[in-house]
Amino acid sequence: MAKQLFIKTFGCQMNVHDSARMADVMAPLGYALTEDAGAADIVLLNTCHIREKAAEKVYSELGRLRRRIEARRRAGGETLLAVAGCVAQAEGPELLARAPFVDLVLGPLTLFRLPEFVAQAHRALAAGACPVAADGGRKGLGLIDTDFPAEPKFDHLPAPGVQGPSAFLSIQEGCDRFCTFCVVPYTRGAEYCRPAADIIAEAEALIAGGAVEITLLGQNVNGWRDADGTRFGDLLRRLAGLPGLKALRYTTSHPREVDDALIAAHGELQVLVPFLHLPVQSGSDRILKAMNRGHTAAHYLDLVARLKAARPGLMVSSDFIVGFPGESEADFAATLEVVERADVIQAFAFKYSPRPGTPAASLPDQVPEAVKEERLARLMARLDARQMAFNQASVGRRFPVLLDRPGRRPGQLVGRSPYMQPVHVMTETARLGELVEVEIEAAHPHSLAGVILEAPPRQDPERACA
Ligand code: 5AD
Ligand code: SF4
Repeated sequence: MAKQLFIKTFGCQMNVHDSARMADVMAPLGYALTEDAGAADIVLLNTCHIREKAAEKVYSELGRLRRRIEARRRAGGETLLAVAGCVAQAEGPELLARAPFVDLVLGPLTLFRLPEFVAQAHRALAAGACPVAADGGRKGLGLIDTDFPAEPKFDHLPAPGVQGPSAFLSIQEGCDRFCTFCVVPYTRGAEYCRPAADIIAEAEALIAGGAVEITLLGQNVNGWRDADGTRFGDLLRRLAGLPGLKALRYTTSHPREVDDALIAAHGELQVLVPFLHLPVQSGSDRILKAMNRGHTAAHYLDLVARLKAARPGLMVSSDFIVGFPGESEADFAATLEVVERADVIQAFAFKYSPRPGTPAASLPDQVPEAVKEERLARLMARLDARQMAFNQASVGRRFPVLLDRPGRRPGQLVGRSPYMQPVHVMTETARLGELVEVEIEAAHPHSLAGVILEAPPRQDPERACA
């Protein structure tokens, strides 16, 4: 019987992708994914360190898992407990002090070494490193691998398996921008961009495997450039020319990396969806400066205006942080204003969370929790209202929708509009994976419902992505 690997992923899309890659590297060793942590030979948490709450979730999950693992050991099974990802990278030794029952700690850049690390753990256990006590408990092995390797991890990973109609393609990792609130430059390291030739080859393989939509991933994805200076807009042009590709997305981008070529690409390439996640974080220039964002609110609004002029129908989503140190009521009001002026239709909004080792954590004038709560509630109310208004305005529109999962009700499938709104339709299950044109009939706060139009999707640059 195949050995069982349980993976629980916290955090961003990059982590979801990394988890899939860890499953890929373990598959040749006979490990199959399981959803039952209590029956797994390896239990792996792929973790997120971006905010304190995300990191704390990992510790509570570890507590819960420990009980299941020990129950399995009492029944004669052996489970390795591994923590990967950004908490592992940022807190390795501290993590082992808080959770001494953990066996393996693995950073995001060394995940390709998981098979060797597991083999090392098995050798240690076979040599009697941690005998299991009568109550089923044993101390963890406490092995750590959180180097920043000289070689990019992409060179060590096998080509990704077939991902289905909607696929992710990691093109860039790490970040050199050092926003003062952010741990990413410390956990994911310096920016690394994969060569264009590798990206194109991987995209071709994904399309050959059935992908019609590709989402390019990177922490600073539009900061991508090739060794010869080729920029992100040129890469998009090359990808857009691949036969069979119907929709192209990318996330997460930085306003400072939006150049004229990228704006032009949004005008020219119909395969690029008319929707862009472009975080602004704050609407106050004073706060943006303290965040080291390298742009002002006016610069951001100008980019949004130019993108919208290039591609009719283009809309943006964003990320916001409220309660950054020193944020006054006037600064917060500027954030509310930018939401309106950029016509943001969806966003993630967060209370500022001081992260150890980042410059902003030691700034004076930390904002009291109650003030952060209150501002977050006001911002979320605005964002929810805007999202609902956009959903309502979608009624009567026709969107290309890639049906990528079953709905909760029998006979229901779900896909996403170009604007990432979940779209529910009633149709046969056999249509899973199809790209269809849907006329929207109803709007809800977080989703839409519609009917499939049987004609093939039409080309309508104002309204559709494909
Ligand atoms: N506190 C709150 N939010 C943060 N983010 C990043 N770091 C922090 C922090 N310390 C948010 C930013 C970023 C998103 C991924 O997470 O908005 O764009
Ligand atoms: Fe973090 Fe800023 Fe880099 Fe985004 S651009 S990953 S917020 S440092």
